[in-house]
Amino acid sequence: MGSIQLCAIVLCALFYVCCAQLRREAYATVPQLIASSGYPVEKHRVTTEDGYVLQIFRIPAGRRSARRTGSTNAKGKRAVVMFHGLFGNSGNFVLMGPRNSLAYILADAGYDVWLANLRGNLYTAHKNLTRNDAAFWDFSFHEHGKYDAPAIIDKILNITGLSKIFYVGHSMGTTTFFTMISQRPEYNDKLVAFVAMAPAVYLDHLKMIANFFLKSFDLISVLRRRGYNSLSIRPDMLALFAGSFCTARQPQTDICMRIVYAIVGEDYDLNPWDMVPTLVSSMHPASFRQLEHFGKIALTGTFTSWENGLWGEVKPYKIENVKIPVTILYGMNDQLTEKSQVMRLADQLNSTGVLESLQPGGGWPKFNHLDFIFAKDVGKMVNKPLVEHIGELYNKYYNE
Ligand SMILES: *[C@@H]1O[C@H](CO)[C@@H](O)[C@H](O)[C@H]1NC(C)=O
Ligand SMILES: *[C@@H]1O[C@H](CO)[C@@H](O)[C@H](O)[C@H]1NC(C)=O
Ligand SMILES: *[C@@H]1O[C@H](CO)[C@@H](O)[C@H](O)[C@H]1NC(C)=O
Repeated sequence: MGSIQLCAIVLCALFYVCCAQLRREAYATVPQLIASSGYPVEKHRVTTEDGYVLQIFRIPAGRRSARRTGSTNAKGKRAVVMFHGLFGNSGNFVLMGPRNSLAYILADAGYDVWLANLRGNLYTAHKNLTRNDAAFWDFSFHEHGKYDAPAIIDKILNITGLSKIFYVGHSMGTTTFFTMISQRPEYNDKLVAFVAMAPAVYLDHLKMIANFFLKSFDLISVLRRRGYNSLSIRPDMLALFAGSFCTARQPQTDICMRIVYAIVGEDYDLNPWDMVPTLVSSMHPASFRQLEHFGKIALTGTFTSWENGLWGEVKPYKIENVKIPVTILYGMNDQLTEKSQVMRLADQLNSTGVLESLQPGGGWPKFNHLDFIFAKDVGKMVNKPLVEHIGELYNKYYNE
């Protein structure tokens, strides 16, 4: 047998082993995932003013009520919309299943649940541009806030006939909220309240890293000159990687989470080992501009808009434009949106009287940035109490 054939057989075997270990969640689309968990799901399409086409997904009823009554009519229900973080997508809020994930727990509690997708992830496109066009990637969370979130909110209000909905964001999904309210303060009137999980607004502690990658090394300019515009890994490559390197069952043999934890903070206690390959293979693309814009915020110590680029003018977003109640959940061991930085945001919101509540996620000292989405007990630790809290905020601030 020639060495090439042998090689092919070994590769096939490796591929088989890898992919046999990936769960169905790693390949299903978000609507497929929701349907296979027994929930009703709707797909809607939102077109932004500047031509991006975003799919959004809706869970209009809980699992039991949909089965019992056969009704998926959400008329008159309170609605919650959720915005994902960097490299994330709408699947972040369902991936851990009915017992753990926020979207399902909310739907079962009687809410009309909406999952947003922000431009750049694989559920988005553009009317005139393809993902290979540099112009497609010419955006950061500035545009998520200026165009995507407003278009999504308006679409939901239009479909439901409601006058207000509830906004939940994780990480960059919170950045999107703050850039939206800064640029389009009229959206205060369309929201009941805002829950910010691991808000990414101040990032002073990342200054050295930003300096290294963006200034000393100038990494992104180098990649741009070589024709790259985004951080995109082909889904099949990502699945191959995840299936080969992310299948450890314990910290001693793990490489995959070690890398992730270097960025988000270590928390092996809450690591859902079964889900790690799925988690890694569910990463979606991001534009370089998103990374650079976060870099500019870290380098300047200011929650600044992009303006004329990384070295351009510093122009702070107007956090004082926020007029609705904000609840902040932070991770005590979050290295990415670190506690001291979240406190700075909290103080600022408190000084204008909109800080409703400030709580450590899960009350657990090792709680990290991703635990809000992927901790193995995130349902019990965070999401069940959070759904109660959302109910209280609705009762307090929504009078229809
Ligand atoms: C898309 O292309 C059409 C036709 O060329 C043009 O009229 C329109 O302005 C473009 N839209 C965007 C958002 O670029
Ligand atoms: C939704 O949008 C359509 C088309 O713009 C409009 O005719 C309709 O009145 C809107 N419905 C609500 C409830 O706002
Ligand atoms: C918010 O401000 C009030 C009054 O200045 C203060 O008593 C309270 O402790 C602050 N809350 C937080 C969470 O910082």
